[in-house]
Amino acid sequence: MNLTLKIWRQKDPKTAGQLVTYQAKDVTADMSFLEMLDVLNEELIRRGEDPVAFDHDCREGICGSCGFLINGVPHGPRRGTTVCQLHMRSFKDGDSLTLEPWRARAFPVIKDLVVDRSAFDRIIQAGGYISAPTGSAPDAAAILVTKDSAETAMDAAACIGCGACVAACPNASAMLFTAAKVTHLNVLPQGQPERDARTLNMVAAMASENFGSCTNHAECEAACPKDIPLEFIAGLNRDLLRSVFRPRREPLAVRGTPQSPAHEDT
Ligand code: SF4
Ligand code: FES
Repeated sequence: MNLTLKIWRQKDPKTAGQLVTYQAKDVTADMSFLEMLDVLNEELIRRGEDPVAFDHDCREGICGSCGFLINGVPHGPRRGTTVCQLHMRSFKDGDSLTLEPWRARAFPVIKDLVVDRSAFDRIIQAGGYISAPTGSAPDAAAILVTKDSAETAMDAAACIGCGACVAACPNASAMLFTAAKVTHLNVLPQGQPERDARTLNMVAAMASENFGSCTNHAECEAACPKDIPLEFIAGLNRDLLRSVFRPRREPLAVRGTPQSPAHEDT
């Protein structure tokens, strides 16, 4: 099949970008979308032109590197599918496809279809871990995990941090990502000692980036290639309320927010 591609070309973060039209010829149905772009790039290199920059790594839908808008839809038309797992059989001969990078202030464009998603890394750094003493390996059965907790944690851990939820949200909110990452640890027994601090710190880190607020549009859930459910956002909101109001002896240090003695139960 032959396709018309309108691709966002932007030399660097400071230069204005524009859509440039290319013809993709002899595309086969079995090619992945990224393989189709590889072929286009080989042609551009042959012509002495700059190849189209796009992020990718595993090409198996597990690393979260890839992602851009295809005709305005994050990761393209197939639900629950990353763009690296999308195949050209999802399109037909003569289609015209517009490829753009994620559009969000928190994800500035680096080049062409590549954006800077380090804001996600900073949210993870704020609390996406548990503290465990080092030393000999603990007995595997020392901490029992219920089946429900294990399954919820696994569902939340499926988030690959691709950023499609932010790109899909009219507010460019990062709530679905943050909710998945908080839930992943907050539902496990190993995550309990730092549960309140994790919730507060990760939400504060999210708020300090250029993301918008969640107003329950649910576009994030529809765009997520890993089917992360909205109910994790409800869970995060419940955990946040509990963390803010739970009486405690030490005031919690929340980055970027004024501390209140109301958090102490003296
Ligand atoms: S919640 Fe879904 S869309 Fe958002 S970063 Fe995680 S995997 Fe990607
Ligand atoms: S390249 Fe790893 S998820 Fe697409």
